[in-house]
Amino acid sequence: MTGPGAADRAADWFAECYGTEPEGVWHAPGRVNLIGEHTDYNEGFVLPFALGQGVRAAVSRRDDGRLEMHSRQVPASSATVPLSRLAPGSVTGWAAYPAGAAWAIREAGYRVGGASIAIDADLERGAALSSSAALECATALALTELHGLSVPRPELAALARRGENEFVGVPTGIMDQSASLLGRAGQALLLDCRSGQASDVPLDLEAAGLVLLVIDTRVQHALADGRYAARRRACEDAARLLGVPSLRDITDRPGAVQQIADPLLRRRARHVVTENARVLETVGLLRAGEAGRCGPLLTASHASLRDDFEVSWPQADVAVEAAVAGGALGARMTGGGFGGSVIALVEDGASTGVRASASDAFAGRGWPPPRFLDALPSAGARRVR
Ligand code: GLA
Repeated sequence: MTGPGAADRAADWFAECYGTEPEGVWHAPGRVNLIGEHTDYNEGFVLPFALGQGVRAAVSRRDDGRLEMHSRQVPASSATVPLSRLAPGSVTGWAAYPAGAAWAIREAGYRVGGASIAIDADLERGAALSSSAALECATALALTELHGLSVPRPELAALARRGENEFVGVPTGIMDQSASLLGRAGQALLLDCRSGQASDVPLDLEAAGLVLLVIDTRVQHALADGRYAARRRACEDAARLLGVPSLRDITDRPGAVQQIADPLLRRRARHVVTENARVLETVGLLRAGEAGRCGPLLTASHASLRDDFEVSWPQADVAVEAAVAGGALGARMTGGGFGGSVIALVEDGASTGVRASASDAFAGRGWPPPRFLDALPSAGARRVR
C-alpha cells in the first residue's frame, strides 16, 4: 500500500494517538536484496533495491523534550522517553528502533528535539524485508527534515545503522539502510561497502518480461538471536588468519581461502569471496540488458548460503527447489537468513506455476502456506504528506 492512501492512513493513526494532525508523514521502504548476502560487513558488494512497501512515520515536534512512539501494528506497546535519557538499553521492543535513530542523530551533534511519532506499516515483520531499517529510516528522515536539517542520505543511513548497532545492539551492516534511503524506481543499488560508493544498476523487470517473486516462508527471521553475530565473528576470524583487514581483501585472489586450515572458517570465507564475484557478474548482466540470465547466479548464491555459510532454513531450501522446479529462472533466500523470504526470478507468465509449485511443496509437508509478493524496484525514503 503506497500513495496518498497510505500517508492518510498514517495521519489518521497519528490523530487517533494525539488528537491532532501530524506536521508531516514520511515513508521509508523495505528492501529486497537481489544478491550479495553477508558481504556488507565484510566490506564487499551488495545489490539490493527498495520495495514499494514500507513504514510510514507521522510526526510532529513537541517542546517537552520527550519522544513518544505509537505503532498501529503493536498498539498495546507504546513508549515515551525523555530525549536526554536516551541511552543504549533504555528502550526495548519495536520502539528501540526509532528511539535508536533519534539517539544516533543526537550523538552526531544534530540538534533534534522532542517529537510525537505514530508508525504505520505495510511490510510484514520477520520476513527479512528490512522492516527494522525502514522504521529507523522513516524516523531519521522525519526528525531531521522537521528540524530543518539536511543530512546527506549516506550519512543518514550510517546514523540509522549506528542506532541499530549500538542502541538496539544488533551488529548489522550498512545494506538495508542504504537501500531504504538511496533506492530509486526501476534501479537496483550497487554498493561498495568499503568505499561507500553507490551506483544505480538498471532493473526494469517489466521491460525485461520478468517478475521478481518474493516467497515469504512464514518462518520469522530475527537478527538479534546471536547467530548473525556469530557469522560476523567467523568472517573476522578468517580475515585475521589470512592477515588481511577484511575478507574484501581477497576478492581478487579467491584461492587464498585454501590457506585457512579450519574447515568451518574456510567455508564461511569461501561464501563471502564467491558471493562478491556473483554480485559483480550480476551487475555485468543487468548493465548488458541480460536480466533474464541472472537466474543461475541467484541459485548459486543460495547453495553457497546453505552449504558454506549455513544461514538457510528448511522452508527456504524447499521454496528455492520448488520455485526452480516450477519454472523459475533462479531463486535464493534474501536477507540475513534463519527465516524470512526467498526471491525467485520468473518469466512473465510463469509466475502462477511457480507459486503453485511452492504452495504444493509447503502443503505436502504440512507447513503453513507461503505468502507471495511481486517485488518492484521503487523509490527510496521521502516525505509523502
Ligand atoms: C541483514 C543485515 C544486513 C546484511 C544482511 C545479510 O539484513 O541487516 O546488514 O548483513 O543481513 O546480507
